[in-house]
Amino acid sequence: RFDESTVASRKGSTAPSPPPSVKGIGKKVAKPDYSEQKIVVAMVGLPARGKSYLSNKLMIYLRWLEYDVKVFNVGQLRRTKARQKAQKLGVKENHNAEFFSHSNAQATQSRDSLAEESLEMLIKWLKEGGNVGIHDATNSTKSRRAKIEARLAKEKGMILIFLESLCDDPAVIAANVELKVSQGDPDYKDMSPDEARKDFLRRINEYEKVYETITEPHLSYLRIKNVGEEVTMSRINGYLSSRIAFYLMNLHIRPRNIFFSRHGESQYNVEGKIGGDSLLSLRGMQYAKALPALITDNIGEKPLTVWTSTLKRTIQTAQYLPYTKLTWKSLDELDAGVCDGMTYEEIEQAYPDDYANRDEDKFNYRYRGGESYRDVVVRLEPVIMELERQENILIIGHQAILRCLYAYFHHLPQADLPYIKIPLHTVIKLTPKAYGCDEERYTLPINAVDTHRPKPKAAKQPNVHPTTQRIYYVEEEVKTSA
Ligand code: ATP
Ligand code: F6P
Repeated sequence: RFDESTVASRKGSTAPSPPPSVKGIGKKVAKPDYSEQKIVVAMVGLPARGKSYLSNKLMIYLRWLEYDVKVFNVGQLRRTKARQKAQKLGVKENHNAEFFSHSNAQATQSRDSLAEESLEMLIKWLKEGGNVGIHDATNSTKSRRAKIEARLAKEKGMILIFLESLCDDPAVIAANVELKVSQGDPDYKDMSPDEARKDFLRRINEYEKVYETITEPHLSYLRIKNVGEEVTMSRINGYLSSRIAFYLMNLHIRPRNIFFSRHGESQYNVEGKIGGDSLLSLRGMQYAKALPALITDNIGEKPLTVWTSTLKRTIQTAQYLPYTKLTWKSLDELDAGVCDGMTYEEIEQAYPDDYANRDEDKFNYRYRGGESYRDVVVRLEPVIMELERQENILIIGHQAILRCLYAYFHHLPQADLPYIKIPLHTVIKLTPKAYGCDEERYTLPINAVDTHRPKPKAAKQPNVHPTTQRIYYVEEEVKTSA
């Protein structure tokens, strides 16, 4: 329990232990029951303070952990409604800086009612089964926050947390403003970058005139100042709320790379066997020897830490890398239980029902005496948390493990996750960006077996993932009652 303005440092904080428990052996495992969890996270902050960024990061993280999460972005609702009005009545609303002036009573009322409508949509969605609804708006005055509080007091069992992003670092603000004006923010798509910049700065200025940082002592809140330089928590209780706070306080936006590589080809890979703790094949050893040049050429003088599992094949692969190395038990390959050491053909013969169950729903299938992909996601959660805190990291891991981590960074659905292609002797370089991750892949010219089993034909095929992707402002149409 964190009470009244606990100032927490970014380092050395401890996470609460995870609760989800799921049963099932050799068959599909039921999704953990989170139906009792109803949390409203209401953002607070001036424009260009990373509210949408934080909302999306939180959504991706909690969805990865299987909570049902949705962001309700008031700006998006405003634009959808304006488009509908323009189509129906032929009236084009002007949402320039004037619309955001608090001395413009009509516009203020219009903005207040949009925020209320968005909150109503959020509450309805939570009642229909959602777990965490994120109200992505400025909520920048005490009176606006009091209205949210009063509305939620009428609902049973809904927890309200405010998340404020404060920032007075001119470099961060300037970068955020540039991102808005140069990378297709929908409010500015018809303006030149110069006009857009001017208007956006005026909009910020309008908000600054009335902005009230959150100090209301009775509210639950988390305030992040200058991207985590200082974090204030007040009245944050309970497992999921603490989890959310802990995740958010660990985020940073410093440029960095995350590299993924599987271990070099192992003896078990060559024999087609899964699991085990075998050593590298001769070709696997060649990969281990070639890896340092690839990584050093890429990272240059920048610091890098290498994480391996506790299994011999990853430690052997990392042995020539001239960087600090850490071993993580959580990075050990998915435990195949009684099937450990068998080939897929042997498993099909010995456990035909299990084999078919796995093909039918690979994410949820748990090996007898072993794990499912879902179990692996739960055990990787501390790794994700630490990855968010760190800068340049190279993970020498395993096929299933890297699929789970990769799915988090690219926000890929569960059904596709166990089929993601992570070939041997290939380095995947991720560069986190404001809205998504860029990716490059480097394959070393050292042959290796292919351990990827494609999804059975009858099942839905996974989406195709381009090797380089970047996502900016993909705006969905908001479903409105209008
Ligand atoms: P608006 O109210 O105009 O929609 P916003 O507050 O939602 O603005 P974003 O669109 O999320 O702002 O801004 C994105 C930028 O914020 C990204 O470039 C990201 O790097 C940066 N950012 C992320 N976290 C923070 C933070 N805690 N403080 C300031 N900037 C951040
Ligand atoms: O075959 C290599 C391997 O790392 C095995 O040890 C592991 O069981 C398997 O990949 C995971 O991949 P899949 O989930 O596709 O069976």
